[in-house]
Amino acid sequence: GKGHGRRDKLIDFEDVTIAQATADQSMPTISSDYEYQAFIPWGTPIEPGVVAEYAGDPSTRPTPEEAALQVGIGHDGMHFFPERSAHHKYGKGSSCHKGMLAVNHEYGGNQHVLGKPSPTSLTDVRLMQNVMGVSVIAIEKRYRSWEVVASPNTRRITANTPMAFSGPVAGSEYLDNPAGNIPLGTINNCGSGATPWGTYLTCEENFNGYFGTNNPAWSPSASQARYGFAAGGFGYDWHSFDKRFDLGDEDYANECNRFGWIVEIDPYDATQMPVKRTALGRFKHEAIAIGECRNGRIAAYMGDDQADDYCYRYVSDKSWKQAIADGESPLDHGTLYVARFNSDFTGEWLELSIDNPALAGHFASQAELLVNTRLAADIVGATPMDRPEWTTVARDGSVFWTLTNNSGRTAPNAANPQAPNSDGHIIRTKDTDDFLGDSFTWEIFLLASSTRGTPGVFTDPDAAFVDPEGRLFIGTDGGQPDGLQDQVVVLDTSEDDPKPRRLLVGVRNDELTGWAHTPDYRTAFVNVQHPGDGNPALTSFPAPFNGTTIPRDATLIITRKDNGVVGS
Ligand code: FEO
Ligand code: CA
Ligand code: CA
Ligand code: CA
Repeated sequence: GKGHGRRDKLIDFEDVTIAQATADQSMPTISSDYEYQAFIPWGTPIEPGVVAEYAGDPSTRPTPEEAALQVGIGHDGMHFFPERSAHHKYGKGSSCHKGMLAVNHEYGGNQHVLGKPSPTSLTDVRLMQNVMGVSVIAIEKRYRSWEVVASPNTRRITANTPMAFSGPVAGSEYLDNPAGNIPLGTINNCGSGATPWGTYLTCEENFNGYFGTNNPAWSPSASQARYGFAAGGFGYDWHSFDKRFDLGDEDYANECNRFGWIVEIDPYDATQMPVKRTALGRFKHEAIAIGECRNGRIAAYMGDDQADDYCYRYVSDKSWKQAIADGESPLDHGTLYVARFNSDFTGEWLELSIDNPALAGHFASQAELLVNTRLAADIVGATPMDRPEWTTVARDGSVFWTLTNNSGRTAPNAANPQAPNSDGHIIRTKDTDDFLGDSFTWEIFLLASSTRGTPGVFTDPDAAFVDPEGRLFIGTDGGQPDGLQDQVVVLDTSEDDPKPRRLLVGVRNDELTGWAHTPDYRTAFVNVQHPGDGNPALTSFPAPFNGTTIPRDATLIITRKDNGVVGS
């Protein structure tokens, strides 16, 4: 029953029912114990008054200049950085009503953003480039609602923002172009992470899709082929108007190597140039989760989201505080590993370094190895996985990995036991020696198609976040059971047979992704991405359905009606 004893259970909200969630799929449906505020849809001014809002009028579009002052599209990974007081050197603010929100903008389709299937001018391409990247905005709760407020730290980072490189690949020939152009931009910013020192990490995922060429003489190198570069790209057609993205233009021969990295952003300093941290490897970075080891070193867990690609870990050489005291970044000096899962529920972290005898003969330098991280991981014998998406580190040091699906799998392995795997699964790993060992143990936490023989509540796990009390929040991306749209479900990780609880269901053709919270865990943030796939006939979200307003990606700010911890 309700009332007394309610707080004894880790998760005790009323699930969204199938009937509730399917009654009107033009708007999200949340548990009756919760409420949400739709916030910062695509086109919102990043500060009050700096530009008009783009509100989804199909007869007009923002200019590229306007888009660079508006919240972008494709809301994905994000983090709330509470307002920092002068006493807190590393950003451990505690405000639950004011702070900086960093939000990734993964992508928007040509039809959604431009209203046509392909760009027809450089102006169109600039608009597409300016709706991507990251928004860093100041937000404050006033009375019962959150608002965007002015701040010197506000900024938009786009596909054309100047970038710095650091780590072993910085300054190497692999990043130089004959054109001599400086590094610009971050693209396809999927998931995210945050560091213990108060910075934001944004992950470049499907970067290959923005490159292409009309040059019939071009064919991919082995490296380009391994990363999926192709003449047609994903159909964005930037290369027809912006040579930087033309694979067949010799002047920009290495531009493609400038993407596929994790980028560090200081949310409290809009003058900081974002830094691509090359020691973390180059692949289709989904997201990153950092654990702190007993001696203050950090271990970072990262997935490469492609069918039959890998799970990675990075361990810093020094404690993060010592590295910063020495004027270094903890993300520049460390070791990258890739996972091999053994059938006896043990695993190995295989070192991706030029010092590894298995790799020394294959690459001339650590820089060449890191540019070709996937090729190095192939050589050492990593285990091909069912599309590694998000990672999250629990208080007990275990790491949850979402494997979203792999319908093309024909050869099962111990850690990917279903062939094909159309619904995905979640693995829990635990490193030996408090994140520092070169081995780990693992288990299948659950198969999304079922939990211990019960038909599944959800499929296609993607976004993941585990709170300090052990609630695991999963955002889905893919066809759900029972006619449902994508969902956020919550699981109690202490249960042997975890029962997914349905907290939130999205709108037609969307995806629910990203997860952030205030320091008290009583306010959470989750993104509605590509609502209706941009089609106004399916939803007008966040506006009430009217059949014509273009739906816009937006953040939902979630609270319990009784102000309890989100997920309880
Ligand atoms: Fe951008 Fe793998 O999701
Ligand atoms: Ca994802
Ligand atoms: Ca996905
Ligand atoms: Ca997505």
